[in-house]
Amino acid sequence: MEISTNNSVWQKDRAHVLHPQTDFSSFHDEGSQVIESAKGVHVTDTKGRKLLDGIEGLWCVNIGHGRKEMAEAISKQVMQMQYYNPFGHSTNISAAELAHWLSCNAPGELNHVYYTCGGSTANDAAVRLVHYYNTIRGLHRKKKIISRNYAYHGATYVAAELTGIHATKNSFDRVAQDIIHHISAADMYAKPAYWSETEYCDFLVQEFDDRIQQLGPDNVAAFIAEPIMGAGGVLIAPASYNKRMHSVCKKYDMLYIADEVVTAFGRLGEWFASENIYDYHPDI
Ligand SMILES: Cc1ncc(COP(=O)(O)O)c(C=O)c1O
Repeated sequence: MEISTNNSVWQKDRAHVLHPQTDFSSFHDEGSQVIESAKGVHVTDTKGRKLLDGIEGLWCVNIGHGRKEMAEAISKQVMQMQYYNPFGHSTNISAAELAHWLSCNAPGELNHVYYTCGGSTANDAAVRLVHYYNTIRGLHRKKKIISRNYAYHGATYVAAELTGIHATKNSFDRVAQDIIHHISAADMYAKPAYWSETEYCDFLVQEFDDRIQQLGPDNVAAFIAEPIMGAGGVLIAPASYNKRMHSVCKKYDMLYIADEVVTAFGRLGEWFASENIYDYHPDI
């Protein structure tokens, strides 16, 4: 591959960075906005424009940019021990302490932590665990996962298939299409005007139940959902939707995977949204 000889950051980026979720027809001419620095809720680009970081980086800068306390904590940890692996019977103090803290603050009886590198790998791991769980229960056919249109669950192979923003999969090879199925998004903006909020919720819950019946309850292992859909448009479900979908899962011996990549760790004012805001206890 030809290496860019132009030294501007903009050119280097255009020549060498493979951006996710990008329209390459215009990217070649326009390139990227280059963010140079960030402080609090703002980012500044190389043209000197100060911009409000409305989606917190990519939902992950929940305490704001440039926090001295965070820099100091990271520095202290790196100097003490920057990494050690958790394979087999090996652990480290931070991994154990954080898992304990998470267990004390996670919804319901959730009390085990499996560390991953991000949201996509967390969702891939969740699907593997669900499958493994049903295998050891002898339920070898109970492997299907129900997700929703407009859901965003990540960009690894299985997480991309769980994702319900279907256009992002155009032209890519697909995996797990036989086990992953999508139902409607829960989106109050899409509620027909002639339905009350409760009627809309009834429709969504019935659609879920019908899909499980259609696929066969013995074949359906889990439901995955963001308490509030993030990338799909910040879509808020009707009141009691999350709790009622959880009840349907319990009725059919299904697990409920709450993808709280965007809603947990204080973004909605609580450590986790599922229990504290929506009053249900996910299984994963
Ligand atoms: C709800 C949700 N799940 C999963 C992911 C994927 O996370 P990551 O980009 O860390 O793989 C995202 C990313 O924005 C997300 O919004």
